[in-house]
Amino acid sequence: MISETTTERLGRFGDFGGRYVPEALVAALEELDEHRQKAMSDPEFLGALAELHRSYTGRPSIITEVPRFAEHCGGARVVLKREDLNHTGSHKINNVLGQVLLTKRMGKSRVIAETGAGQHGVATATGAALLGLECTVYMGRVDTERQALNVARMRLLGAEVVPVDHGSRTLKDAVNEAFRDWVTNVDSTHYVLGTVTGPYPFPEMVRDFHRIIGVEARQQVLDAYGRLPDAVCACVGGGSNAMGIFHRFVDDPDVRLIGLEGGGEGVDSGRHAARFTGQATPGVLHGAYTYVLQDDDGQTVESHSVSAGLDYPSVGPEHAFLRDSGRAEYAPVTDDEAMEAFALLARTEGILPAIESAHALAGAMKVGRELGPEGLVLVSLSGRGDKDVDTAARWFGLLSGEEIVEAEQKKAEEPVGESAGSGG
Ligand SMILES: Cc1ncc(COP(=O)(O)O)c(C=O)c1O
Repeated sequence: MISETTTERLGRFGDFGGRYVPEALVAALEELDEHRQKAMSDPEFLGALAELHRSYTGRPSIITEVPRFAEHCGGARVVLKREDLNHTGSHKINNVLGQVLLTKRMGKSRVIAETGAGQHGVATATGAALLGLECTVYMGRVDTERQALNVARMRLLGAEVVPVDHGSRTLKDAVNEAFRDWVTNVDSTHYVLGTVTGPYPFPEMVRDFHRIIGVEARQQVLDAYGRLPDAVCACVGGGSNAMGIFHRFVDDPDVRLIGLEGGGEGVDSGRHAARFTGQATPGVLHGAYTYVLQDDDGQTVESHSVSAGLDYPSVGPEHAFLRDSGRAEYAPVTDDEAMEAFALLARTEGILPAIESAHALAGAMKVGRELGPEGLVLVSLSGRGDKDVDTAARWFGLLSGEEIVEAEQKKAEEPVGESAGSGG
């Protein structure tokens, strides 16, 4: 039974958050909380994490001003925080390295993860390989198809990838499956949750591992421009890259925090992942009380976005709090708008962004036009677009008919849907 545990006010952001889990997981969450609280004040743990950031991930990630792209943003200056340059290609590695170090600290030998765009799965498979942990990654069948390259990457890294065939066969269903595995194997296994949602302590812990993005970016912008940005834009799936870059700016009231959601085919089309447009209502999903796309009976409504990483019907509870308290703004970006921003950054600056990050770029184009030439906009470039080349090439019709047939044939010969059965 899913019910709120006795620790009723634990991990709340206003009314949001909490811990709604089956009894079997309460002890594991308490163990995790105890370990991570101690770890976060242990110089040895923090030193080991900092060393991995430096020598493995490549932190600090740089900032890059993009003047040719900014010509399409009302003349405002636009600066990218380059999480795309991290090892494995996205911000996801920041959280994973923290959690795999914690897994070792807890004496566990196996990690599991859910993944949508595949970047969190790739990061987890990487961290598991680095520390010698067994790794299983759950991924919706639809996502295994649109992110086939990342499925291959995870398998090469030694992870077992399990395609999920329930529901919409996307991220929500992968999370359900990962929770099921965790309940069964909780003694040996840590669940490396990939975003700022789930039961306490995940939203807080994942945010704290990503906070480094905003800590670095704030200082880098101050050093380069002598002032803070007027706005910080980030895409919001579960919300981890956004919380990571927002958090250090929360106490800077003049800095607008803008989260961009997957607007899909438009919020009126019913095919979108925009939770903050009045269509989502507070409810419980995946262990947290937050905004959920749901029908009148409380059944989760399926979401849609061109971007696998934003295709999620719920959102991290701290975002729900930031939104209701008015500290952060959220807006939908349609698939078309995101793909336009994707192409624009590629052609004006030579940078292929992840399609998720392209939503943040589309947001920057809008806010830049509001701010005008005096404006300074910081954008979280949460990941690189290598994984999305196939999707983008099809979107823009860049492959000839012949090439498409060839690619389809290749896909049919090498089904990505089957587990590699690597056992590791
Ligand atoms: C590059 C990239 N950006 C953003 C996201 C969305 O996740 P979050 O909202 O937790 O940052 C993903 C998810 O897979 C991703 O791969």
